[in-house]
Amino acid sequence: MTILILHGVNLNMFGKRDPKHYGTETLNDIDHQLNQLALELGVEVESFQTNHEGQMCERIHAAHTDATQAIVINAGAWTHYSYAIRDALAILTIPIIEVHMSNVHAREEFRHHSVFSPIVKGQICGFGVESYLLGLRAAASAIQISKT
Ligand code: DQA
Repeated sequence: MTILILHGVNLNMFGKRDPKHYGTETLNDIDHQLNQLALELGVEVESFQTNHEGQMCERIHAAHTDATQAIVINAGAWTHYSYAIRDALAILTIPIIEVHMSNVHAREEFRHHSVFSPIVKGQICGFGVESYLLGLRAAASAIQISKT
């Protein structure tokens, strides 16, 4: 069971970036915690980060043929306007969970809207690193449910 974790634009800067919203843990720390939880849950995770929209689309396209069974995505600012990434995600039929470290609804208005909302299984935001961990749990149980 393989779950693809997608980190979008600027998320490689976690640890240095706006600690009030994103804390002080780095993307490596987050991936480490995801790997630990994956072991507990008995799933495999693969993480991918890019600052290039086209590369993100190509990684999502590859998920059609590489045995990915679910996706957890924090697309960063792309969440709010990237129809290209939304269209790439929409081609997939596997469960997609959208996550955000910060509570996007309590921040600037442009962050309140996600162009992914209509095509994802659900959204988790506002729990810091825990948003990713909850997202991984949600993805693992969505795969189990679709198998039964
Ligand atoms: C974010 C929220 C987005 O609005 C922002 O552009 C990010 C990070 C989050 O994890 O809270 O880059 O996705």
